[in-house]
Amino acid sequence: MRFAVLASGNGSNLQALINACRRGRIKAELAAVVSDREDAYALERARRAKVPLVLCVDPKAFAGREDFDRHLVGILREARIDLVVLAGFMRILSPLFVREFRDRILNIHPALLPAFKGGHAVKDALEYGVKFTGVTVHFVDEEVDHGAIILQEPVAVRPKDTPETLAARIHKVEHRLYPRAVDLFARGKLRVSGRLVKF
Ligand code: GRF
Repeated sequence: MRFAVLASGNGSNLQALINACRRGRIKAELAAVVSDREDAYALERARRAKVPLVLCVDPKAFAGREDFDRHLVGILREARIDLVVLAGFMRILSPLFVREFRDRILNIHPALLPAFKGGHAVKDALEYGVKFTGVTVHFVDEEVDHGAIILQEPVAVRPKDTPETLAARIHKVEHRLYPRAVDLFARGKLRVSGRLVKF
């Protein structure tokens, strides 16, 4: 099983996956890391970890989303990638990409979906006043933050939380959940039936 991580930013989830692979906690090879941003720290982490294929694909070099995604699909096919893991990848994937990797794309979201979809989930949950938010690992389908849910874990909101303090506790949970989800996939344990994922 060969997987690729797509990341646009810091890459702390990528680091958790790198560490888990090293410790033998994921029965799969991290074969590629791709970013859409040259300055993503995730790229540095991947180079340090000696991931076989590390590259940035600049969206500005393409006419549109589909062209970019078609190029990405080509790279991932060439690298014989079985599973695509989104880890803070700040682009919405086109149906073309989703079709190519149907039920083989994972995403992690810093809230308990279907609550607080979108790019500001931690802040939105805090401002809404929920007492619990959390982490969701799910399959990616054509709708944003929507596909079948694999793992979820709640995180309690504390009265004095700021977006930063809450995000820090959410990250800790993410770093534990994501490697577990990738390993479940890698060992062929996930059974998808509509929205339901069993293992
Ligand atoms: C995480 O909070 C994840 O839930 C969201 O993007 C963030 C990425 O953080 N999708 P990092 O780059 O892995 O540190």
